[in-house]
Amino acid sequence: MRSAVSTPIIIDCDPGHDDAIAILLALASPELELRAISTVAGNQTLDKTTRNALKVLELAGRTDIPVCAGADRPLRRELQTAPHVHGETGLDGAELPEPTTPTVDQDVADFLAERIEPGIVLVPVGPLTNVAHLLQRRPEARPDRIVWMGGSIAEGNVTPAAEFNAYVDPEAAARVVASGIDLTMIGLDITHKALFTQEHAEQLRGTGKIGTFVAELADFFLRFHRERYGMQGSPIHDAMAVAHVADPTLVTTLYTNVEIETASQWCDGRTVVDRWHATDRPANVHAGIDVDADRFLELLCSRLESL
Ligand code: BDR
Ligand code: CA
Repeated sequence: MRSAVSTPIIIDCDPGHDDAIAILLALASPELELRAISTVAGNQTLDKTTRNALKVLELAGRTDIPVCAGADRPLRRELQTAPHVHGETGLDGAELPEPTTPTVDQDVADFLAERIEPGIVLVPVGPLTNVAHLLQRRPEARPDRIVWMGGSIAEGNVTPAAEFNAYVDPEAAARVVASGIDLTMIGLDITHKALFTQEHAEQLRGTGKIGTFVAELADFFLRFHRERYGMQGSPIHDAMAVAHVADPTLVTTLYTNVEIETASQWCDGRTVVDRWHATDRPANVHAGIDVDADRFLELLCSRLESL
């Protein structure tokens, strides 16, 4: 069911376990209207992330949502994927139907530009390569607002200093941060505060094909987070960006300066967040600093159950 005033969004993603769940959360949220999906190379190669996006829509019975395959590599760097996190397919652990619909055969900058209109929120949950291409090739079509899952104030995940989405294409992230667009950063500091546990997975398993799919994804994702980080649950990073658009009261943000490191021996991809206003650099990002974890997880599970 869609509420009277729903916010139109476009998700730019690299599915990815949490990307898939973010897409499903958007489909299940009456406050949101998912207008389109663009895919980018990140967690896996572009062919795989694109097929995964199509498969998720197939499972959800929402093949009406157009999908465009975007950049197959970062702006300037070699692509780094994350098979250790998401498996060889990008969605290891779950069964999905083969896609029956093709992608929209269009340059991703044009695809996004044609769909951006006043009030639409662009929700990138992967490396920012496609968004950087949009800003460069179709500067007149800049969105009013971007809510990005990426970066962190404190620790990294792919390196000690950097979060994966920022690390894979820091030049793209730097371009987006410098664009002046109203930008929110949902980083590791808050996504790690809300852990999806085996209990959540069991709650969803058996509620239907979507619940079963999410539980199977969680089995794989939880195992990775347990073995790699000793966590008793897994962050569903990308879903928090979608949830923030649906319910802005879940996440607390701080409007401050963020810069992206692109030329460092150890810290490439670091999002340098001026958490305590230590500089006079102008504020340019709403950085997530806290989340109501219980309410986020409750929203996530109840919405997924409803599909
Ligand atoms: C981000 O990296 C990817 O592995 C996830 O999909 C998420 O977007 C977390 O660092
Ligand atoms: Ca992602």
